[in-house]
Amino acid sequence: MKKTIIITGATSGIGLETTRLLAGKGYCILAVGHSTANCEKADRDIRFGIPDADISWFAGDLMQQREVVRVAGEIKKRLNENGTESLYALINNAGCARSRYMTTEDGYEQQFALNHLAGFRLTHELLPYLLKEGGRVIMTSSESHKNMKVRWRDVMMSRNRGFCVEIPQTLRSASKHPCAGLSVPMRAMRASGRFVFSSWQVKKVQ
Ligand SMILES: NC(=O)c1ccc[n+]([C@@H]2O[C@H](COP(=O)([O-])OP(=O)(O)OC[C@H]3O[C@@H](n4cnc5c(N)ncnc54)[C@H](OP(=O)(O)O)[C@@H]3O)[C@@H](O)[C@H]2O)c1
Repeated sequence: MKKTIIITGATSGIGLETTRLLAGKGYCILAVGHSTANCEKADRDIRFGIPDADISWFAGDLMQQREVVRVAGEIKKRLNENGTESLYALINNAGCARSRYMTTEDGYEQQFALNHLAGFRLTHELLPYLLKEGGRVIMTSSESHKNMKVRWRDVMMSRNRGFCVEIPQTLRSASKHPCAGLSVPMRAMRASGRFVFSSWQVKKVQ
């Protein structure tokens, strides 16, 4: 059976190229995009070069927690229909940068919601499939986190919302820190240019 990989933010940039590359290598890809229109566009783009690509698309606004849960539910349904019990990898790549303080309907700062919480929640929802055979969790991040510190007493920097330049830069780097709270050993961290790909192999901790 083909190995299955889930990737978010698959419709442009790093996510689109990663999806193309993995599809070309014959993986079964469950790709998540923001809108149906962008998913269809990315699908056409990839199939132009790889007509038999094994890709299924799921659309949702991952900034909203309820949407993350809904998309995860659709993915789980598909995995069960396909008889797929284990995931080879989950790539949490969707991300954004905001130039001013904006919140989601849940009240989270938008970058914090998408760049950190969405990946954490999706990983949590799919953990049973990842645990089955030691699947990988990969977070696309930024090297700029090296120059920043997380403000644990105010992680969304809501008290500094007037400083439009500082907030997004700090949050952007802080928000892609490894998922604290997940009981998974860190396997590898590879820096490449401005990007950091953090990867964990998920195992049960005794
Ligand atoms: N490019 C850089 O310079 C840079 C530097 C450091 C780190 N990074 C990180 O690398 C990752 C990929 O960056 P990139 O440059 O490839 O970004 P990109 O081209 O802007 O792609 C971002 C992806 O995330 C999706 N997305 C945005 N908002 C979303 C939402 N609310 N719900 C669901 N999906 C959403 C986008 O879909 P739509 O296009 O349909 O909205 C797109 O597929 C991000 O996590 C980013 O923080 C990038």
